[in-house]
Amino acid sequence: MRKTTRQLQAQARQGQKIVMVTCYDATFARLVEQSEVDMILIGDSLGMVIQGHEHTIPVTLDEMIYHCRAVARGSKKPHLVGDLPFGTYQGSLDEAVANAFRLMKEGNVQSVKLEGGAQWVPLIERLTSAGIPVVGHLGLTPQSVHQLGGYRIQGRDDETADQLRRDAMALQEAGCFSIVFEGVPATLAAEITQQLAIPTIGIGAGAACDGQVLVLYDLLGLDERFNPKFLKKYAHLNESVVDAVSRYADEVRNGHFPALSQSHQ
Ligand code: KIV
Repeated sequence: MRKTTRQLQAQARQGQKIVMVTCYDATFARLVEQSEVDMILIGDSLGMVIQGHEHTIPVTLDEMIYHCRAVARGSKKPHLVGDLPFGTYQGSLDEAVANAFRLMKEGNVQSVKLEGGAQWVPLIERLTSAGIPVVGHLGLTPQSVHQLGGYRIQGRDDETADQLRRDAMALQEAGCFSIVFEGVPATLAAEITQQLAIPTIGIGAGAACDGQVLVLYDLLGLDERFNPKFLKKYAHLNESVVDAVSRYADEVRNGHFPALSQSHQ
């Protein structure tokens, strides 16, 4: 049985941090599950990490469903959250609800995440009353990269900090069971976390959030070019991958692979 929204909320109330990892396929989902994470986010960051786009904006609902299904096949216990990609919830309410249903029914996730604040209250109310658990996402919301003018920390001045406070309360009241804070000053994230009854999950939002999320490829250090301040690399797999593939290439070229032990007799 996968972790439920209630279990996650109870865990946060008891002061146990929620561990979330963004993951996109069955092989890594299996390994992430062995690492005892609470939640896997199938994030639209796959647009950059897997597809090589500059932004998350081109990611489609069908692509999200494809990756959600793969992660669902590779794991049994973590709660799965699927991102609603850009353009799938900004149209009519009916269309957004239909898209969220698809993500849950076809992608086999237990909840959906959407980016933005109080403007989504009517949608979140519709989704939650239709039985779709919703995770909010505030602060640096990558789908709004063009509106924000880049990937910038949000809430540094009084006006945007107040907006974040209001948005967080609005999302909670609308029925979100948790909120991701991305790229928010640690003191502000701590203050809002204190005021909310639902758990906050931070990325670049300091240690006081009820949980943390990192993209798996980032924490594994698969891209040596990506070194934002918020990231801690727990491995440097880029080096291991280049080393392993180079040794394989050498051995193919010098005839050492396959050896007799790798050959059928
Ligand atoms: O898409 C994603 O992976 C995310 C996390 C970084 C929060 O939204």
